[in-house]
Amino acid sequence: MRLRDKVAIVTGGGRGIGRAICERLASEGAVSVVADLNEGDAERTAASIETAGGRAFGLPLDVTKQAEIDGLVETVVARAGRIDVLVNNAGVFDLSPLLEQGRDSWDRIHDVNVKGLFFMLQAAARQMAAQGEGGRIINLASQAGRRGEALVANYCASKAAVISITQSAALALTENNITVNAIAPGIIETPMWSVVDGLFAKSQNLPSGEPKRRAVEAIPAGRIGEPEDVAAAIAFLASNDAAYITAQTLNVDGGNVMS
Ligand SMILES: NC(=O)c1ccc[n+]([C@@H]2O[C@H](COP(=O)([O-])OP(=O)(O)OC[C@H]3O[C@@H](n4cnc5c(N)ncnc54)[C@H](O)[C@@H]3O)[C@@H](O)[C@H]2O)c1
Repeated sequence: MRLRDKVAIVTGGGRGIGRAICERLASEGAVSVVADLNEGDAERTAASIETAGGRAFGLPLDVTKQAEIDGLVETVVARAGRIDVLVNNAGVFDLSPLLEQGRDSWDRIHDVNVKGLFFMLQAAARQMAAQGEGGRIINLASQAGRRGEALVANYCASKAAVISITQSAALALTENNITVNAIAPGIIETPMWSVVDGLFAKSQNLPSGEPKRRAVEAIPAGRIGEPEDVAAAIAFLASNDAAYITAQTLNVDGGNVMS
């Protein structure tokens, strides 16, 4: 039990990678706070963790709203007493030809993936600093943050920003003994990839499922990633085993990216 009694907030914890992270952290002894835009998914994930013998509770959260971020931190401290771990997982995807990308899409992607992530990090770090016992922050970047893609300029830029914020925050928070790292997943089997596949298929005039099949075929490990692959790396970064690791972005992608 590497995370016994730690209190861990996971944004976007209601489904996909976030859900697997909540399950894994709870299985290592943490109280998982499942915070999601979709309150029903948050409640269902928390209930299923409790049924399996873990500790969790669900809370509604829109990371684009500062009042909701502040309210979440207050509620978690009132209910669980403290915050030890933040996993900034909530994210959204979009793609379109570069010459057609509009401000609406840029605003939506950056409001969630960049500003939402930054202000959630700031609020949790303030609480961790006030507690005075250190903490762990783990941000969800992407292989898309390592290299641009013709159709995905906005999402790629948002994930490159996550890598940069991770480095700046890590340097700023070393004096508080708070480590800040990121995970860059490759292609992971989640509801988001159904959206990605659909958008690529439409844009490239391919049958549904074909973009995903091609992407998976190119993974050196020979299989798509599972949410549990990402969750395992996050449990490590959240634990004392990773006490001397900060400012890093770890690729969890079956060998897709080497950097
Ligand atoms: N699936 C992949 O292949 C992949 C690859 C690289 C990076 N990622 C990143 O991993 C993270 C999780 O991805 P996923 O595939 O599980 O996505 P998903 O779409 O399946 O789940 C995302 C979750 O975030 C929540 N969310 C969205 N907007 C929110 C907001 N404003 N406030 C709070 N919650 C919000 C959604 O309700 C949902 O539960 C994202 O940051 C994503 O960019 C995913």
